[in-house]
Amino acid sequence: MRRAVYRSSTEEGRALLERAPVVHLATTDEDGRPILRAVHGVVEGELLAFHAAPAGEKTRGLGRPAVIAAHEVVAEIPSWFFDAERACPATTYYVSAQAHGVLEEITDAATKARVLETMMAKYQPEGRHAPIRHDDPRYARSVRGLLVAGVRLDDVVCKAKLGQNRRLEERRRVVVELWRRGGAGDARAVETLVRRFPELRPPFLRREGLHLTSLLDAHELDEVAPLLDDAYWLAGVPRERSLEAFAASPAVVAARDERTGELVAVARATSDGKVAWIYDVVVRHDRRRSGAGTAVTRLLLDHPAVRGALHVRLTTRDAETFYRRLGFRELSEAPRHAWRSIEMIRPGGVDGARG
Ligand SMILES: CC(C)(COP(=O)(O)OP(=O)(O)OC[C@H]1O[C@@H](n2cnc3c(N)ncnc32)[C@H](O)[C@@H]1OP(=O)(O)O)[C@@H](O)C(=O)NCCC(=O)NCCS
Repeated sequence: MRRAVYRSSTEEGRALLERAPVVHLATTDEDGRPILRAVHGVVEGELLAFHAAPAGEKTRGLGRPAVIAAHEVVAEIPSWFFDAERACPATTYYVSAQAHGVLEEITDAATKARVLETMMAKYQPEGRHAPIRHDDPRYARSVRGLLVAGVRLDDVVCKAKLGQNRRLEERRRVVVELWRRGGAGDARAVETLVRRFPELRPPFLRREGLHLTSLLDAHELDEVAPLLDDAYWLAGVPRERSLEAFAASPAVVAARDERTGELVAVARATSDGKVAWIYDVVVRHDRRRSGAGTAVTRLLLDHPAVRGALHVRLTTRDAETFYRRLGFRELSEAPRHAWRSIEMIRPGGVDGARG
């Protein structure tokens, strides 16, 4: 790698190769002609493995040097983040990984079956099939007949090109500009950058003892469950359903204790761009009345998926005062919605929150 500043750990490289839905395999055939293929790869032990038809082109690369690569784009960074005229600063932030080695065939039937079973777990996580074993009569022939091959993960290089070459104030500006631009994936990119480089955390993601976030990954959803446990509006809703709603919402925000990292508040919203609906604003019992609810709701209102909405709506049973302070009004008080209802409404954007 030309610039050491972009070098990342082998572990990150392996993890990227493991989760990538598709990896690219490059090798050569017996005449030295290049072979480049997209394959469904899985990590099995020390091998990045895939399967193929034994008569296919990939067979011709067996025993030859090969590279398997994957990459994830974090954000497209436009030139105008840095310069009003020159196109040159335009760049892409990404993480990439490459495993260099030799393309090896796996011939041991039990190992082949394990690779295939790992593939099923990755690409058909719902299961609903009998486990693949080489000695199971339902699978024995297929396991024998398939080519299973891979490259050892002894030499993995990972590159995280995330603006480390820039000055600190420029990198901070990128975070703010990404949030402001608010395109698909920009909120996630902000979070990726801030988690990796804490010095880039912008003021709007910080509040007295709290770190605010606009992203909860699937593995973090379990932490949300205890907060939702006593939410009256979720009574009777299965826990998985409530958590799926978080996973499916275009805007999810949360607050973590700056010191312990514990999740202390969450909120989410759906939006079609015109009307946004806020749901599940909850602060952990012991942290109520100290501003966490206000902080996550303000961030939610400023979330790229919500801030452009003409109306932001919600229903509440007893937190009316809380929402009024954030600029919400009852529907009956809003000129175009003068029917009797306890639903509340407020104009979109953060400025209304100061009303
Ligand atoms: C409602 C809730 C999200 C507020 O969060 P919070 O962090 O406690 O609120 P903040 O500290 O930011 O509140 C600031 C102000 O909002 C108002 N407020 C807070 N909680 C309130 C409540 N339950 N009812 C009415 N007003 C409330 C108060 O005016 C408060 O100011 P004060 O402490 O000076 O009196 C939190 O109490 C909670 O999780 N409640 C249970 C779940 C819930 O009802 N969520 C709302 C569903 S619609």
